[in-house]
Amino acid sequence: MAYVVAEPCIKCKYTDCLDGCPVDCFYEGQNMLVINPEECIDCGLCLGQCPINAIYTAEDLPVKWAHYKDINAQYSKLWPQITAKKDPLPEAAEFSKIEDKAAFLDPSPAS
Ligand code: SF4
Ligand code: F3S
Repeated sequence: MAYVVAEPCIKCKYTDCLDGCPVDCFYEGQNMLVINPEECIDCGLCLGQCPINAIYTAEDLPVKWAHYKDINAQYSKLWPQITAKKDPLPEAAEFSKIEDKAAFLDPSPAS
């Protein structure tokens, strides 16, 4: 049961979650990261790293974000791997306070 990046990551992308992931299983879209469920080893190190609590265990994923399991599985095959922390998106502070961000998910890979 892999860990899942959920909706709060959209338009924030703080990237603190990358610190310490032993298998580098994060992948980067234009405005969010996802975890490859086939590579994640469930170590839990990323869970406390995200400053806005965007990461959940599959069991604890809120029902309203259940589809993010599929989003992580799907986009981790399409987006490039990211292994090093970078600056958050410029709009991160503003969008960290916005609850409903599904419409903003950009399916494009990070450039
Ligand atoms: Fe990486 Fe561990 Fe988080 Fe999985 S649970 S994404 S292996 S840090
Ligand atoms: Fe996203 Fe949080 Fe990582 S905002 S990039 S899951 S630190």
